[in-house]
Formats: sequence, C-alpha cells, structure tokens
Amino acid sequence: MGKIKKIGVLTSGGDSPGMNAAIRAVVRAGIFNGLEVYGIRHGYKGLVNNHIKRLKSYSVSNIIQRGGTILKTARCKDFLTKEGRKQAYNNIKENELDAIIVIGGDGTFTGATVFAKEYNIPIIGLPGTIDNDLYGTDFTIGYDTALNTVIEAVDKIRDTASAHNRLFFVEVMGRDAGFIALRSAISCGAEAVLIPEIETHAEDLLDYLEDGFTRKKSSGIIIVAEGDQSGGAFEIAKKIEKDFINYDVRVTILGHIQRGGSPTAFDRVTASTLGVAAVKALLGGEKNIMVGLQNNSVAYVPLEKAIKHHKTIKKSLLDLVKVLNI
Ligand code: F6P
Repeated sequence: MGKIKKIGVLTSGGDSPGMNAAIRAVVRAGIFNGLEVYGIRHGYKGLVNNHIKRLKSYSVSNIIQRGGTILKTARCKDFLTKEGRKQAYNNIKENELDAIIVIGGDGTFTGATVFAKEYNIPIIGLPGTIDNDLYGTDFTIGYDTALNTVIEAVDKIRDTASAHNRLFFVEVMGRDAGFIALRSAISCGAEAVLIPEIETHAEDLLDYLEDGFTRKKSSGIIIVAEGDQSGGAFEIAKKIEKDFINYDVRVTILGHIQRGGSPTAFDRVTASTLGVAAVKALLGGEKNIMVGLQNNSVAYVPLEKAIKHHKTIKKSLLDLVKVLNI
C-alpha cells in the first residue's frame, strides 16, 4: 500500500446522532496528521455520482452538537450493482483518494465489504447507528442519544398512563434488534419488554398483566421493539385488549424522533474517540476493519465479522426486567 495522503469520508444508511461529531473527528485528525480530507455527499450515492468535496478544519466547525449529518446520507441502490461500484471506484481514482472512512451500520459495512473485495482500496468503518446491533463494539454512535430520547418520551407517557389507569404499548426502533427496547425498558421501569430475539407469547404477557392487576398495578408500560415477532405494538395491543378488559389500552409509536436530536456527551466522546482512532488505524496500515469500543478501549474488528456475527442480547439485562417488576 502506498503512502496515504488523501482520504474520503461518508455517512450512509439511517442517520444517527453523533455522526457529525465523527465526521469532525475524522476531518480534524486527518488534517492534524497532514492529510487532505474529502467529504463524500449522500453516502455511496456521492461516490457513484462523484459528489466529493475537500473539507477543511473550519468546514466542521459548530457541528459536534448537531444531530443528522452534514454530509447527508442515503440507502444507495446503484452501489448494490457491479456497474455502480465500478463507477464509484473510477471516482475514487479521479479524486486520487487513497482510502475511505465509512460511518454507518450493517448495510453500510455490507457495501464496504463487497467493494473491498472487488477493488484494492483501504476502508475503515465507524459504527454509526442507533440500533447498537454491530458485533465487535459495545456501543454504536447514536445509541445512547436514542435511548435518552426514548426515556424522555416514555417518562411523559407514564404520567398520562398513571393518571388514566391505562396500559400503554410503546413501540421503539429496532427492525432486527432489541437493544434500544431492552435498555429503555430497564431505564423506564417498564412492566415488560418484547424484542425480536425472544419469542413473544401473548398468553404469558396476559398472565403477567392479570397478576399485576390483582396486585393493584393500576397502569403499565410495555416496550415493544418494532421487529418483535408479535408484529409490532398495534398487533400485540389488539390481542391483549381483547382478553384483558381491566385496562384501557393505548399505543404510541415513537418512530423517527429516536434518530434526531443533539448527541449526548457519551455519543460525542465515542464519536470523537473512534473518528481519531480511524485515521490512526489507516496511517498504521490497517484496512477493511471497523473501529469500535470494547471495555472502554478502542478495538479493531474485521468489517466482515462486524456484520456476519450476531451481537447477542445480554441475558442478565433481560433478567433485570423480570426481577424489577415483581
Ligand atoms: O437502522 C436504523 C433504523 O433506525 C432502524 O432502527 C429502523 O428500523 C430503520 O432504520 C428505519 O429506516 P428508515 O429511516 O429508512 O425508515
């Protein structure tokens, strides 16, 4: 591999709070180390369509506190095709980029892995997704902020649930993973949590709710991950409502509110740490890895491993929900 002088950075897939802090860290660490840094707009779409522009230190001023991504993001269909990736590679060559840093989740890293197999271009991944579902990092950039958004909303729902003696089913994001649901359930003292990783039995939930009612629980919150096998909050609420007349049932879908907002201190520090580490990894000759956090230290994980291995739900956290809801 030749000496790295110019690098590109992009954000791809669903945005997450802290992506801007990560871009800022990559740009500033790159410049600090004597590199030229280029911003690629709209994720892989910008690579395919040659939307690539030099970033200076001032280009990333005043963004550490902002949600979204100044580089914009997209889920790019063209990059799924061989022709699209060829075009992307031609643009990398035309702009003389020696390496790229991609910030995103599962889909972003899948694209990066395919691309790295076809073309010899070093790629470093930074875990940017609210889902926290990437193997090899304890936390992804944006997860903590999303959790805090959920907590703030559910605390408010708890007030009205209690005032009306109602049972609320609150649906949170997580198409394939229950990480947001599980930690928010613990943080909000939810009565139960339904996640894709664990089979949902409506009858068990009913028994549990009946039991709570006899112990004079007058209201409740059930957190449902959007990918739960029950089909989501509306579906499970319908089933429960039919047989459980003790509570007035309501459903709230939190939706994309979870993706926005100013990143928490934790996400800003994580994004800054990992952004700087990504540049350091490139300069150290690393390629096709994700830079993540393990036990509070920076860790390198092959991109392929980050997407192929499943991050598992901590059983001890699930047990917490049970123990704390007697
Ligand atoms: O992957 C992040 C995520 O927010 C998931 O939790 C959610 O299922 C999905 O993106 C929603 O995607 P979109 O914004 O394309 O509707």
